[in-house]
Amino acid sequence: MDTPFDVLGVDADAAPETVERAYRRRVKTAHPDHGGSPGEFQRVRAAYRAILDGDVPDDEDETASWEPAPDRTVDVEDLNYEVLDDHGWTLDDDDLFERAAAADLDPADYGRFAADPEGFLLESAEDEGHVWPFACRGGACANCAVAALEGDVTMTVDHVLPDEMLDRDVRLSCMAVPTTDTLRVVYNVKHLPDLDDLRLPPYPFERSTITDG
Ligand code: FES
Repeated sequence: MDTPFDVLGVDADAAPETVERAYRRRVKTAHPDHGGSPGEFQRVRAAYRAILDGDVPDDEDETASWEPAPDRTVDVEDLNYEVLDDHGWTLDDDDLFERAAAADLDPADYGRFAADPEGFLLESAEDEGHVWPFACRGGACANCAVAALEGDVTMTVDHVLPDEMLDRDVRLSCMAVPTTDTLRVVYNVKHLPDLDDLRLPPYPFERSTITDG
């Protein structure tokens, strides 16, 4: 029986950064959309969770009986805000996602992915190979904003969104953790007219990251 470390292909004494890199690599190849299978995908996620929680068998008997705990994921349907104009759609359309599903959009603009119910939405999207905009990753710039049109998320930090934006279901994906089992989100809403005024340009954060590195 493989241990969680075997599933990720790392040594048992691997550094946390090595484990995380291995996880990000494995979870992509294990995904059903990229040649993997639902079972393999769940197994990789469960192995990573077991390592993070320190729930790893430490003798042969326990290893032989290690089974990944059933994994729960959040089903996220995502749509790129940039395609709305092209099709004459708006965020207020009740059937926006049905229209998107029927429109044969590029997978980068419309699709679904499984998100970690305990992780930040932006990170889950990135784990699945999506490229969503961001800058500060700390709830301060609004570049990562999404409109959570169905389902809900909770934000651990928010320094920028006024009540009227929250009322329109705008959330910061870098700080948003799902609270429902399904979500329909429009990402890339940073150019919504009112939000554009609040948004800080990404370059101070990019420069800070380069300096910190
Ligand atoms: S990336 Fe700046 S608020 Fe999310």
